[in-house]
Amino acid sequence: LENQPRPPVIWRHFQECTCCSESLIRASHPLVGDIILDMISLDYDELLMAPSGHRAEELAARTMETYRGQYILCVEGSVPTGDPAYCTIGGRSALDILREEAEGAAAVIAYGNCAAWGCVQSANPNPTGASGVPAVLRGKPVIQVPGCPPIAEVIAGVVVHLISFGRPPELDRQGRPLAFYRKRVHDTCVRRAYFDAGLFAESFDDEGYRQGWCLYKLGCKGPTTYNACALLRWNGGTSYPIQSGHPCLGCSAAGFWDQGPFYTK
Ligand code: SF4
Ligand code: SF4
Ligand code: F3S
Repeated sequence: LENQPRPPVIWRHFQECTCCSESLIRASHPLVGDIILDMISLDYDELLMAPSGHRAEELAARTMETYRGQYILCVEGSVPTGDPAYCTIGGRSALDILREEAEGAAAVIAYGNCAAWGCVQSANPNPTGASGVPAVLRGKPVIQVPGCPPIAEVIAGVVVHLISFGRPPELDRQGRPLAFYRKRVHDTCVRRAYFDAGLFAESFDDEGYRQGWCLYKLGCKGPTTYNACALLRWNGGTSYPIQSGHPCLGCSAAGFWDQGPFYTK
C-alpha cells in the first residue's frame, strides 16, 4: 500500500452527530493516523480538514473533476428528502451534493446507521424525511456499514479492504460486509451460556444482574442484531455494551429507534 498512489476520499457529513467519526479516530488496527497519512488522501472531511467554507467546497469539486471514477465517497449522516433547508452545505442541499458526488465515485460507503438507514432522524414522525444513502441513490451500489456508531476497526477495515484489493469486501443482501455482519450479536455474546442455561436477569438490580446473567428479559436485541461487537469490542477490544451490563439496543439494525422498547423493566 505504501508504494501505491493514495486514493482520494471525500467524507461527507450530513444529518449526524459525528460520533461515527469519533469512533473512527480511535481505530487501533490499523491506527487512524496510518490510514489518513499513508493509505488514503483525505481531500475533504469537514471534521478533519484545515480549510473551511468556500475553499473547502472547492477542494471537493476539484477532487470530483480530477479523479472522476477514482475517488471514494464516504457518507456519515442521513439525507433529508423533505425541505432541502434541513441540511445544506455551501448553499447546496445534501441531496444534490450526494447525488453529484456519488455519480463520479469509484465506491460509496455509508458509515453509521444514519447513512445506512436514517437512524434517529428518521424515527417516527421523521420530520425532515431523513433517508439512508442507498434509498436515495437507487441503482448505485453502496457499501453499508451500520452501527450507531460502527466499531472503529470495522470503519477502518472496510476502507482498507477497498483500497488494498481494489474491490468491495463480500457483502450480504443488505450491502453489509459479511466479515463483520455475518453473525448476530447473540451468537458470540459473553452472556450466551446463561441464555442457553435459562439464567436471566429480571431487573437491573437483582442477583441475576449482579451475577452477569443474560439480559434478554431486560430488552436485549442481540438475538436479532447483526454486528461484530462481541468479537472486536470497543476501545481497542476492551468491552462492548452487553459486557458492560447494558442490553443491546440493536444499533446496527434498520429502524432501531422505532423497534423498542429499549427497556422492558
Ligand atoms: Fe451519530 Fe449514530 Fe448517526 Fe453515527 S450513526 S452519526 S453515531 S447518530
Ligand atoms: Fe443473547 Fe442478549 Fe442474552 Fe447476550 S445478553 S445472550 S445477546 S439475549
Ligand atoms: Fe450496538 Fe448492540 Fe453492538 S447496541 S454496539 S449492536 S451490542
